[in-house]
Amino acid sequence: MKPRILVTGGTGYIGSHTVVELQNVGYPVVIIDNLSNSNRDVLDGIERISGIRPDFVEGDCTDMATLRKLFQDYPGIKGIINFAASKAVGESIEKPILYYRNNLDTLLNLLDIMGPEDVKGIVFSSSCTVYGEPDKNPVTENTPIKNATSPYGNTKQISEEIITDVINSGAPFKSVILRYFNPVGAHPSAEIGELPNGVPQNLVPYITQTAMGIRKELSVFGNDYDTPDGSCIRDFIDVVDLAKAHVIAVERMLDDKSKEKIEIFNLGTGRGVSVLELIDSFMRSTGVNVPYKIVGRRNGDIEKVWADPRHANEVLGWVAATPLDETMRNAWAWQCKLRERGVM
Ligand code: UD1
Repeated sequence: MKPRILVTGGTGYIGSHTVVELQNVGYPVVIIDNLSNSNRDVLDGIERISGIRPDFVEGDCTDMATLRKLFQDYPGIKGIINFAASKAVGESIEKPILYYRNNLDTLLNLLDIMGPEDVKGIVFSSSCTVYGEPDKNPVTENTPIKNATSPYGNTKQISEEIITDVINSGAPFKSVILRYFNPVGAHPSAEIGELPNGVPQNLVPYITQTAMGIRKELSVFGNDYDTPDGSCIRDFIDVVDLAKAHVIAVERMLDDKSKEKIEIFNLGTGRGVSVLELIDSFMRSTGVNVPYKIVGRRNGDIEKVWADPRHANEVLGWVAATPLDETMRNAWAWQCKLRERGVM
């Protein structure tokens, strides 16, 4: 019997995909989520895919009493994967206190309870945003950290520092920090996927909603960057590939395979894809047109960033294997499922 894993933010986009992968290999999961950016229906999707309904606590990790009760009600938690965080860059600039409080209090509470509850390790969702505009691509884990350009990005940097300080103080647990590049796509079953609140800020949900006719036209933010086609370059990583890396990371800590008490991995494909190439991949692989126009640059955007994922490839034995076209088809199938269900 595998030990229980606590997944905070487990009904969210990356969290839900990770819960499926954990359950697929036999981990009992308890989710805590405050449903601020997701809903209970996600539990049905997870159950339809994996045949198992995860335990679920509706609650906030910023409340220590809620966490204490959770550990009482669900004994034997040996690993935590922390997805519970606010993640909209623009909103974080308008509401910095909300972002710092939510993202940092959650992490502090989890780190605080891990020792007394005998939890062996925590996987933390970080982001390539910590590299800012890198001087050189692809970026390795040793690429210098740049000043954060938003409170959201700053919470990721500060969180990494907090984890480092706590572990270096002799805490009796380990941590794996995963720096995601741009997670996209949906589960191939189309039972779970990304469900942004309101007008999407991120590229792929905007593409799929435009393809569906929910949005009139996609705006491509800038074609005058110093890149081959002038649009920005990102490393788009399939969400299921990303989810699988979390299972490997948690397993490393539980099985004491990790040599260091803190390990950091970039999770990306290693391939830079431009915004225009991504739109093209979507249209080619689905056969659905996406009307778009070129507009001015979006404030704060990075010109180009993609991962050197070799550290994760070699140490975790993990690769981002899903071809981009397949990821785009999965994103579209999910959008179609939302329409079928009358969600949007
Ligand atoms: C941003 C954050 C990242 C965060 C992620 C998820 C930064 C530097 N990065 O990534 O840390 O984890 O959001 O919330 O803040 N684009 C368009 N039209 C659109 C939408 C996007 O052209 O309607 C372009 C953007 O200009 C960008 C690319 O698509 O070049 C990707 O944008 P997006 O999906 O928002 O992700 P990032 O900004 O890379």
